[in-house]
Amino acid sequence: MSVRRLAPDHVQPASFAFDAANENWIAQQIAKYPEGRQASAVIPLLWKAQEQHHGWVPRAAIEEVARKLGMAPMRVMEVATFYTMFNLQPVGEHFVQLCGTTPCALRGAEALKKVCQDVIGPQSTVTADGKLSWLEVECLGACCNAPMAQINFDYYEDLTPENFKALLEDLRHGRPVKPGPQNARTGSEPEGGGETLKDQALYDGSAIGAGDWQKRVTNQRKAAAEAAAAKAAAEAEAKKAATIATDAKGADVAKVDATPAAATKPATDTAAAGRPKPSAPAQPTGAAHDTPAAEGQPESTKAKTPRSRAKSAKSGDKPAE
Ligand code: FES
Repeated sequence: MSVRRLAPDHVQPASFAFDAANENWIAQQIAKYPEGRQASAVIPLLWKAQEQHHGWVPRAAIEEVARKLGMAPMRVMEVATFYTMFNLQPVGEHFVQLCGTTPCALRGAEALKKVCQDVIGPQSTVTADGKLSWLEVECLGACCNAPMAQINFDYYEDLTPENFKALLEDLRHGRPVKPGPQNARTGSEPEGGGETLKDQALYDGSAIGAGDWQKRVTNQRKAAAEAAAAKAAAEAEAKKAATIATDAKGADVAKVDATPAAATKPATDTAAAGRPKPSAPAQPTGAAHDTPAAEGQPESTKAKTPRSRAKSAKSGDKPAE
């Protein structure tokens, strides 16, 4: 792990300013955050400063980022020194980050360190031509292709002292190089090729049908097509029979409608004949006139009982009509 300190004063630039293109990019980044939260853009701005300043972040860039975001310089310094993605020392044109964690160490990373020391020099120093520098880092997540190194933005894997040394020389002299595994592997399959799933029958389908799977599938498709055709024919036949029955029923109805109107009794008469005649309202019985309720009625409206009628006749009163 590298020591997270700023580069010595004699390599620090006197000032730093973002170029016009980056100023425009920075404005867009800052605009992503709500008012008062511009400090959230500190990592993108530091990254852009590193990109512009040949792969490392000088003190002047840290101060410029702090000024742009309205932060205390120390707050930006804390971020820059915490994250190892920010280089605080000058780096070469090809910056080698060599993984030294256990899987890579078990697969020969120590020998690769010696190559770096021999070809480049001590860690965190740049070759005199400015082409190469190197740093030991922690696991970069490509352990299945250990040992490996990241150079600028690409991974180089399955390294050996020989192919690693040749790779560094190619980079130094500007020759084309191939990222990824530096042996015959194309990914992370076993060295020397795959050991399992090699039976071709797994891929031509014969393993699932004892050799005649194509014939079986063809027959299944044929049977399914015949069944579908038979079903469609049966449905068409049933529809046809239903249409014929409907037409016959319509003809019978038309025959009934053709009968002379006079020969048929109006439906209302028929209905009336079948209905019982309304009965006459029930007549009040004499007993009903003797109910107590009748006594509460006015004299003129009271019904005359036999006794009252006899009394009226004896007294000469005219019986009530
Ligand atoms: S240990 Fe080296 S990449 Fe994981």
